[in-house]
Amino acid sequence: MKSYDRLFIDGRWVAPVHNGSFDTIDPSSELVLAKVAAATAEDIDLAVQAARKAFDAGPWPRMRGAERAAVLRRIGKGIRDRLHELAEIEVRDNGKPLPEALWDLGDAAGCFEFYANLAETLDDNAEQPVALSDDRFTSVVRKEPIGVAGAIIPWNFPMLMAAWKVAPALAAGCTMVLKPSELTPLTALELAGIAAAADLPPGVLNVVTGFGKDAGAPLSEHPGIDKLAFTGSVPTGSRIMQAAARDIKNVSLELGGKSPFIVFDDSDIDAAVEWIMFGIFWNQGEVCSATSRVLVQRGIYARLIERLEEETRKITIGNGLDDGVLLGPIVSEGQYDKVREAVERGKQEGARLVTGGARPAHLDTGYFMEPVVFADVPEDSWIWREEIFGPVVCVRPFDTEDEAVQSANDSRFGLAAAVMSRDDARCERVARALRAGIVWINCSQPTFTEAPWGGYKQSGIGRELGVWGLNNYLETKQITRFNSDKPWGWYIK
Ligand code: NAI
Ligand code: MG
Repeated sequence: MKSYDRLFIDGRWVAPVHNGSFDTIDPSSELVLAKVAAATAEDIDLAVQAARKAFDAGPWPRMRGAERAAVLRRIGKGIRDRLHELAEIEVRDNGKPLPEALWDLGDAAGCFEFYANLAETLDDNAEQPVALSDDRFTSVVRKEPIGVAGAIIPWNFPMLMAAWKVAPALAAGCTMVLKPSELTPLTALELAGIAAAADLPPGVLNVVTGFGKDAGAPLSEHPGIDKLAFTGSVPTGSRIMQAAARDIKNVSLELGGKSPFIVFDDSDIDAAVEWIMFGIFWNQGEVCSATSRVLVQRGIYARLIERLEEETRKITIGNGLDDGVLLGPIVSEGQYDKVREAVERGKQEGARLVTGGARPAHLDTGYFMEPVVFADVPEDSWIWREEIFGPVVCVRPFDTEDEAVQSANDSRFGLAAAVMSRDDARCERVARALRAGIVWINCSQPTFTEAPWGGYKQSGIGRELGVWGLNNYLETKQITRFNSDKPWGWYIK
């Protein structure tokens, strides 16, 4: 594996000030994959200075949107040209099956292309007139880049989460310091190289690898940052908001979830089982929007659990690079322990373990676990209420629509939710009653770059993707002109 022991600051690959490094691990083999540069506060300061200079004095925010769009398109193409190679790096760093990594990387390229199109529309739409109630004045509202953005991202979709933040920020004309997760830092460094090859001016995108405490915290506290964009856990999101509070930085947060999936008894059982499995086993269940709480109407409950067990047992588990694998290892030893503890806790709490939880017999190294189905999960149990972030689904029966909606909404989270029924009116009614930022009808998880993404309640603040994602990185300015020939006449009559 090639070397990843440099940070990307001001358009150059530089060693960290204190020369620190850490190992990133391949979760399938538990072996070291690469040695990676460990940034500390001094490196963060250099990166923020570079981004500050590129914003305050560089060409990027002053270019036309169409010129920035050309660079974004070249970044998208740079990803597509190396799609397979990058997907393999992602699999080895994160563990996910190769077809899923290929899908992520294609979506990441598509995200740059989508925001290239939006950057072009900014040229014509950056200024909009506002009708005023006093005709002596005219006003335009102008959209301008917010400044230097700090982005901190998680390990579950490393390149895609980078794209969701970098692409709209760059389209808006912002500059950025990006800190990927210490568990999966490699593709963010590859993105830095791709951006440089696409002629992104120096300092516009800086990538600093390192730990949350040593690199993430100094980034969130740095006074040179205008906007923080974070995806990850609720406790870290709360810390970031507190750090931002001191300087009143603009913050957007995409945090955890415990998303419900309501299945009514007129549903096709196999279709329900397929979407339940996609909702919780795709990406090893390490998905912020994973539909981890499933509510099944009593009439089909027993039969659905039976089919879910049958199909779950058939899932091929293994190294994500192997053919036919549908479930890879958990990302890290720490996360593996956390998921195993959650399964033990579920058993103690009286949930019925239908299948899974053990290490697969054919895999003696790697953070592998058979996917888990829990049935009859008590509503007040820890496993029903808290995010596990692994291949563990919790199922409960319900009788009435009201009861299902009430139970689904009884959570401190509100990222996503899903409902399945052959009765369209019922689906529409339930979709409107669910307190979540994303609601899927007759499916779970499909995500589109064009549509807003983000949560209610403790699942976050703000929306990514679509035009909403671009607005995250734009400030709003009113420019108001006094047009009258007559004097204002307040002091001087
Ligand atoms: P985390 O939220 O601690 O880490 C996410 C990012 O924040 C990483 O880049 C990390 O280095 C950084 N970070 C950590 N502490 C920081 C601090 N004090 N200041 C600034 N940045 C900091 O998540 P972690 O520890 O990797 O996973 C723990 C749990 O979080 C998971 O078990 C899962 O439940 C949840 N999670 C949720 C995700 C989501 O997409 N909603 C993604 C990843 C984890
Ligand atoms: Mg790794």
